[in-house]
Amino acid sequence: MLKKIIRISIFIAAVIFFNCTKRNFKQLHPDPEVSVVKNCDTTSAISYSGQVAKILNDNCNNCHNSTGTPPDLTNYNGVAASAQMGLVSCIVWDGNTSNMPKSASKMSVCDITVISKWVSQGVLNN
Ligand code: HEC
Repeated sequence: MLKKIIRISIFIAAVIFFNCTKRNFKQLHPDPEVSVVKNCDTTSAISYSGQVAKILNDNCNNCHNSTGTPPDLTNYNGVAASAQMGLVSCIVWDGNTSNMPKSASKMSVCDITVISKWVSQGVLNN
């Protein structure tokens, strides 16, 4: 009888312990992509100068500039041309082009969405 009670108590303790560690892990490590998307307004028109250029500058332009690897992504004409040639494909990592940024992590869902929407909204120089 005592053994049975001990066994049941250990089982209950284990269940409580695992539930708590699971919850604490999520609280300590919220999914970074989910929190970024919450602050990512892509419902309004995307701006090239206000949003797209900044993302490319932060993630791409150390390689893709006038003296570096083509395409040159430091100006509107270069980015607009690349939009016809794999710009979106390479940031969503669909396998049809090289994954970009090269040798680095995939960009945030927010940054990828902003650039993809800017392309689908017609590659405006706004
Ligand atoms: C560390 C350097 C580096 C960074 C950072 C980088 N690229 Fe590239 N990119 C390259 C190289 C090198 C190539 C040539 C193809 C290859 O080697 O895979 C290339 C090719 C490309 C191409 C042509 C498509 C293809 O498959 O060849 C596009 C478009 C492109 N990059 C866009 C981007 C974008 C957008 C970013 C930022 C999100 C980025 N790159 C960041 C180095 C880089």
